[in-house]
Amino acid sequence: MSYLKIVGNGPLTGEITVQGSKNAALPILAACLIGEGPCVIENCPQIRDVEDTLSILNQLGVRTGRKASAVSVDASGIRNASVRGLQAERIRSSVLFLGALLGRMGEAVFSRPGGCAIGSRPIDLHLEVMEVLGARIFQEEEIIHADVKSLRGASIRLRMPSVGATENGILAAVCADGETVIENAAREPEVEELCRFLVLRGAKILRSPDGALHIWGKRPLSPVQFSLQPDRIVAGTYLCAAACCKGKIRICNLPYQELEAPIGILEKMGMKVAPDGNIWANPPLKGIGYLATEPYPGFPTDLQPPLMAALCTAGGQSRLCETIFDNRLTTAGQLRKMGAHIEIRGNCAVIDGTSCLHGETVSAPDLRGGAALVCAALGAKGETMLGGYDYIARGYENICRDLKSLGADINLTEGITDL
Ligand code: UD1
Repeated sequence: MSYLKIVGNGPLTGEITVQGSKNAALPILAACLIGEGPCVIENCPQIRDVEDTLSILNQLGVRTGRKASAVSVDASGIRNASVRGLQAERIRSSVLFLGALLGRMGEAVFSRPGGCAIGSRPIDLHLEVMEVLGARIFQEEEIIHADVKSLRGASIRLRMPSVGATENGILAAVCADGETVIENAAREPEVEELCRFLVLRGAKILRSPDGALHIWGKRPLSPVQFSLQPDRIVAGTYLCAAACCKGKIRICNLPYQELEAPIGILEKMGMKVAPDGNIWANPPLKGIGYLATEPYPGFPTDLQPPLMAALCTAGGQSRLCETIFDNRLTTAGQLRKMGAHIEIRGNCAVIDGTSCLHGETVSAPDLRGGAALVCAALGAKGETMLGGYDYIARGYENICRDLKSLGADINLTEGITDL
């Protein structure tokens, strides 16, 4: 089993360029199923979720290739519409193939994604959107089968601004007859990036001032080369790492605007973040009072665990509430082992900042929880052994390479220790 060995050795210093965005890559790779190919996606991160998505594409009969960070996808040989098997079950975002497959093949078969470490994560909104666009859905115990003769544009109002359901709606709507309107659509930058990709290929998509998306379907989509934006969650993780160990770093491609809410919070703690990517701590860092996660442009749920780690090392009290997922405070238990003072009250973590965490044997509860424990370990005294590296590899291309370039003492070690 592989684990990370991290020794807190003082402030991080140096420069870094962050990888391309995972959450933009996944729907854009699904979007490559539609229209003429091949498409080339540049700055596509080499992470497990992307590699699993490419395997799913291959199983559908789609040709994919990778040269450094550029991935090519040619769907001209697609021969089936079944998204099942190990990779599909491992990544929840396999549900993002639903809209694209219905549009391209008129059917989609996939295993029902289960709950995951951060919560129950139903897909009812995805299925409702497809039904409104004319699809029939048949649900057996573990298998969902959807089919449609011809998707037709419709008006949809999402009960909540689900990122994935919005993306699936967009992918189906570009294949539908007429206009589709998605009200209460998610506004996350990755949704905008999917729209930019499709518009570049020839789709017509506009967002009205009230936030509704208008999509005119059935326009021919042509092959393009498209470069993904930097991953705002990875950049935000490294901001939190700098807060944990009171560092001074530069993120050369910091997506400053997209991180407005997290940067505002970190500045409230006493960090300084300049638009050119220079970041430094102004200790002593302070607690933040109350903060709740929200859909974009609010504070992102994916940065809640790394922020929790940073708040453990800032003086004063903070109340950090999770409103998007129903089981995403589990990192608290691991942080407590490292000396953090955190109490869970309902969906909130009440954190009493302490200046000193200590190294410990801990285990990543999930992807961002694992990243949070890396941040905490960098700021802790002594050695941390962090198990569950596979979770982190889902979303961070090479967290050791990145943090070593900032002077961290972090190594991936193979060993028999069962953490
Ligand atoms: C995406 C991101 C994930 C991020 C999340 C919220 C990807 C690949 N993943 O996940 O990193 O944490 O957005 O920003 O982009 N819901 C339903 N029914 C549905 C769909 C969602 O009830 O059919 C609920 C979810 O349980 C959750 C909330 O809606 O409580 C938001 O989920 P959603 O925005 O859909 O997240 P994902 O697209 O799965």
